[in-house]
Amino acid sequence: MTAATTERTVPDVGCVTLPLPTQRFVGQCGQPTRTAIAEAAAFAVNEAEHARYRWLLGHQAAFCVWRLLADLLRSALAQPDEAQPQVAVAAHLVDAYSVLLLYSGSCSTEIYHSTIRPEMIAAHPAFSGKWSRDYEPLPALIRASRSVLPAQAKELAASAKANQLVHMAIADKLVPQGQSLLRAASGSGPVVTSEVERDLFDQFFLVQRRPVSKGMLIGQLGERLDRIAADLMASPLPEPPWRDTEPVMWLHRNSAGILAEATGWLREVSVGDHAGTKGRTWASSRTSL
Ligand code: HEM
Repeated sequence: MTAATTERTVPDVGCVTLPLPTQRFVGQCGQPTRTAIAEAAAFAVNEAEHARYRWLLGHQAAFCVWRLLADLLRSALAQPDEAQPQVAVAAHLVDAYSVLLLYSGSCSTEIYHSTIRPEMIAAHPAFSGKWSRDYEPLPALIRASRSVLPAQAKELAASAKANQLVHMAIADKLVPQGQSLLRAASGSGPVVTSEVERDLFDQFFLVQRRPVSKGMLIGQLGERLDRIAADLMASPLPEPPWRDTEPVMWLHRNSAGILAEATGWLREVSVGDHAGTKGRTWASSRTSL
């Protein structure tokens, strides 16, 4: 088990508790368990604190989304005949992750370089998203879904492609002429992630690891999505500089709706395992939102 660090704090954001990717949820799904994180954010303070808040809250929400996404895709691959609704929801969860990327990376380039990046460098000079335990299984699961369920996974493939474009757009905006910390520190060869690096990544983003119920994970995600929605109502995502990239613009335009639908789906899932994926597809699609 990894203990979250007590050294780094971001006002109003507590730890998120997640099972290790190899651990199953414990107990019944049950009602979402809301965790005690403060109702209102105190980031009115200044731009740098607001950026830290968004960086941490957006990443923690993404970790929860990744875990749910991995479970959905595993379940779809285990029962290909019944996979359609699960793969459809998975596509929307990837879109929700894309919006969380836009949210996490919504600070200015200047604030990123004066506040966010130095904190990651202080944690480790090669700090990387590659060290995320929850993300690690996803590329292989998405590839497998596209290969085993090509018809059902068309929308998932489009969402995954758009997600890559958003990631590149954020990287280009925040680090316009540079490399990732990992590449700057390690060169271009293959890099194998160690347990120490995974632990360090968890500590940086205040992730505690222990088995929890699915209801608890959903509660933690729902709470974070509510707060992100409230934050975005008060300060919308900045106008993007990547106007020529339609999938990214689509996600930017529809960010509030995509997050609201994710929240609605979570409410349905908390009623019973995979309820919400049966006989219903999310209303949003690249054409309808
Ligand atoms: C906005 C929040 C961000 C999130 C949630 C995020 C997430 C991730 C994740 C999960 C990976 C692993 C991908 C994989 O292994 O397939 C990754 C890798 C990477 N990210 Fe990000 N990222 C963010 C921002 C950035 C920024 C600002 C840059 C700018 C340089 C960047 C550049 C990279 C690069 C180059 C990689 C490849 C591995 C590496 O060189 O570190 N990302 N990111």
